[in-house]
Parts: sequence; C-alpha cells; structure tokens
Amino acid sequence: MSTAKKDYKRVTVKSLVEMKANGEKISMLTAYDYTMAKIVDGAGVDVILVGDSASNVMAGHETTLPITLDQMIYHASSVIRAIDRALIVVDLPFGSYQSDPKEALRSAIRIMKESGAHAVKMEGGKEVKESIKRTLNAGIPVMGHLGLTPQSIYKFGTYTVRAKEEEEARKLKEDALMLEKIGCFAVVLEKVPAQLAKEVAESLTIPIIGIGAGNGVDGQVLVTHDMLGMTHEFNPRFLRRYLDLYTEMTNAFKKYVIDVKAVDFPNENEQY
Ligand code: KIV
Repeated sequence: MSTAKKDYKRVTVKSLVEMKANGEKISMLTAYDYTMAKIVDGAGVDVILVGDSASNVMAGHETTLPITLDQMIYHASSVIRAIDRALIVVDLPFGSYQSDPKEALRSAIRIMKESGAHAVKMEGGKEVKESIKRTLNAGIPVMGHLGLTPQSIYKFGTYTVRAKEEEEARKLKEDALMLEKIGCFAVVLEKVPAQLAKEVAESLTIPIIGIGAGNGVDGQVLVTHDMLGMTHEFNPRFLRRYLDLYTEMTNAFKKYVIDVKAVDFPNENEQY
C-alpha cells in the first residue's frame, strides 16, 4: 500500500475520501480549546474532533451524557479560531438529535452557524438514520460513529469491546453500509475486533477511522489528553501514550510550589 502524502493546504471531507482512495492513512485527534487545537493543527493532524469526550476530559463527568449543545458550541468556536488546515468535526451531544430529525437538523445548524465548524458527528446506525439524512439534505457533512457508542452507555452497561458476536457484527456491517449509502463522508468505529473493522473498511469507499479497531482501517483517532498521558486512570489496551505529561506536569507544579515558598521565584531577571 502506498504511503505517498499529498500536500493538503486545507483538509476537506473530499480530501479524506481521496486519502482513502490513495492509500494515505488519516490522522485524527480531539481538541476542545484554542491552545491545544493550535498545536494539534500545526503538527499536521488531518481532522480535529471536538468530541463530546469534553464532558469527561474537560468537565470531569463520568459519562458523555451531561454535556450540552451550548457547551459543545463554545468548545468548537474556540477550536475553529485556532486552525489553518485541519477539518473540524463536532459531536452532536446526547439529546440533541435522537428524538426527531427536525431537532437533529436544528442542532447541527446551530453548531455550523455559531461555531463555524465544517462537519458534525452522530452516534448510531439505523436508529438515527432519519436524523442523519435530514442533516445531510441540508448540506451539512456528517461523520457516523458505530461500535462502542458512549452516549448509549446505560443501554450496554459497560465500555467493553463491541460486535464480538455474529449478530452484532452483522448489524454493524449493515449500519456502516447504510451510512455510506445515505451520504456520510466517514465513519468512526470504536472498540470492535480488528478483523471486523478491516472487513468494513474494505467494503466501503468512505474512510473508516478507528479507535481500538486495529490497523486495517483508513485512519486512527485518539483523545489527545489520553495520548499525551495527561489522564492516567484510563488505560485501555488500544491507547498508546506518546508522553507522560501527568508526571511531567506534576513535577513542574511541585517545583513551582517549592520555588515560590523559597522566594526563589521570581528572581531579579523576572521582575520589573
Ligand atoms: O468524543 C470523542 O472523543 C469521540 C472519539 C473517542 C472518537 O467520539
């Protein structure tokens, strides 16, 4: 498979489909604020997801359910102000699209209008088909999300690997095909067996972005705070930590406390 990399000045939903066709893997990370988004975008990450994982990472909730549409718009607006190149996808939060297609469209329009985002993401398959279709019909690009769907955590009860059994795997394949057919530009597959994810990726022309779904898919996504090692209670097998910022930051804060207490900070060069 080719690893040739075309130079995209600005990543669009079309670029992602082209990347898949050219065998170029897609990189995606989360960001919820201006400073982090600036670094992630500057590093050349293709897609920035303003994920509803902000509910856990930024607000300290146990699940993604409490975050509101207004809060997602606030996070997305901060991210949009930072970026030059990446495609910005924003999660529609729990309760903003499941009840009916009109509500889904209203929520998606608010995100696009008020934050300037480029696309939205919704969790689920045929249960939310009409909501996704309505949003797509208004010209708003939609990314799907199948497998482990954290907004349904109370239905499933655990965050374990999904679609290990034949029946669930069959439904997932049908849902992925349906999402492509109705016009989604990509699908996130979370925490499913690598072989299943590979089969889904090979059967579709739109990109499959995996998280805990092996390397047979078209791209990867991680929660930035997890891959930087800022969080340390969350240790799933799929998570590769590129830094141990929890320890680095703790040591820096401890050193600061020592310096302040010892009147070592500020020194003569650090004052006016
Ligand atoms: O909210 C989020 O961060 C996500 C990713 C884990 C895919 O949906």
